[in-house]
Amino acid sequence: MASRIFFCLWGYLLLVLPATASAALSPYYYGGTCPNALPTIKRVVEAAVSRERRMGASLLRLHFHDCFVNGCDASLLLDPSPTIDSEKNALPNARGFEVIDQIKSEVDKACGRPVVSCADILAVAARDSVVALGGPTWKVKLGRRDSTTASRTAAEADLPSPFSDLPELISGFKKHGLNEKDLVVLSGGHTLGFAQCGTFKNRTYNETYNINPNFAQKLRSSCPPNGGDRNLAPLDPTPARFDIAYFTNLKYKKGLLHSDQQLFSGGSTDNLVKTYSSNPQAFWRDFAKSMVKMGNIKPLTGNQGQVRLNCRMAN
Ligand code: HEM
Ligand SMILES: *[C@@H]1O[C@H](CO)[C@@H](O)[C@H](O)[C@H]1NC(C)=O
Ligand SMILES: *[C@@H]1O[C@H](CO)[C@@H](O)[C@H](O)[C@H]1NC(C)=O
Repeated sequence: MASRIFFCLWGYLLLVLPATASAALSPYYYGGTCPNALPTIKRVVEAAVSRERRMGASLLRLHFHDCFVNGCDASLLLDPSPTIDSEKNALPNARGFEVIDQIKSEVDKACGRPVVSCADILAVAARDSVVALGGPTWKVKLGRRDSTTASRTAAEADLPSPFSDLPELISGFKKHGLNEKDLVVLSGGHTLGFAQCGTFKNRTYNETYNINPNFAQKLRSSCPPNGGDRNLAPLDPTPARFDIAYFTNLKYKKGLLHSDQQLFSGGSTDNLVKTYSSNPQAFWRDFAKSMVKMGNIKPLTGNQGQVRLNCRMAN
């Protein structure tokens, strides 16, 4: 009863406060309505990551994709329907949706009602995944609400391509308010997880001038010129550990994706790669900062959008 009154009061405040007050995300957003929310998410993420280490990578990637397509609004979780042109069809190899469903159901149970948005779940699950695999922690800002629509065309247009050159990567991040430093440090997310052969095949066979020959040869054995497009290779030598190997690798021309190696190819980002490859503290600190920044991309707040009951469909 008391919490219900509190909830109504809060709704009333949101209506009367100026838009800017309701627009700011806060780490303490669920402090009053559901103090168990964050520990519950953490518990489910840790269980999922200990079942399969790669899941931590997949959950981190989901939050990145969510934020880059129309802002961090969980639009990428919506399943196809007659009115939803699902972004899932534009995101090859996106995985982890079942874990998000499980988190949502456990969080709603822990809170006694559905107060935590799917967009916030994605942001917290990304952080908890990084921590579970040995990376830095940060305070996730909360209060995002969920979209009621999705856009496959936006997903295709707004996600960076692994075939892009540096200028295109820089401008793609700039479109979302992220600078070169954000680009380099967030690409460090590729210290975790795997990519499919189709995303690095051309580099492996044709980019002879910019790839370590032994590395290329090893890749070719698991990524034939024809077929095998779904075969996996790790994005760095330690795909289940958040470390600086991604950056040291780039210095030896052992980036897996063309876009990875572009960050160390004689351009303006070389120095940052050097910094992170020799300074884990700087990588940890800047990664955490840029994740908060990425999590702030165009959130729905206040009365915008909704808190979905099921992350796969609008209410
Ligand atoms: C700079 C532009 C980026 C490009 C071009 C890019 C591209 C890709 C590609 C092509 C894959 C493999 C997907 C597949 O095989 O289907 C991948 C995987 C991954 N990406 Fe990125 N990415 C970028 C930035 C980021 C950022 C900013 C993050 C997070 C902070 C991130 C996190 C990941 C993770 C963790 C995986 C592995 C996922 C798994 O194993 O399930 N990426 N990325
Ligand atoms: C290498 O480049 C040639 C010419 O652009 C192209 O036809 C071929 O498909 C490429 N090879 C791979 C394995 O992508
Ligand atoms: C494949 O690699 C070659 C050599 O680096 C490059 O010129 C070409 O644009 C690449 N093709 C694709 C589709 O990325």
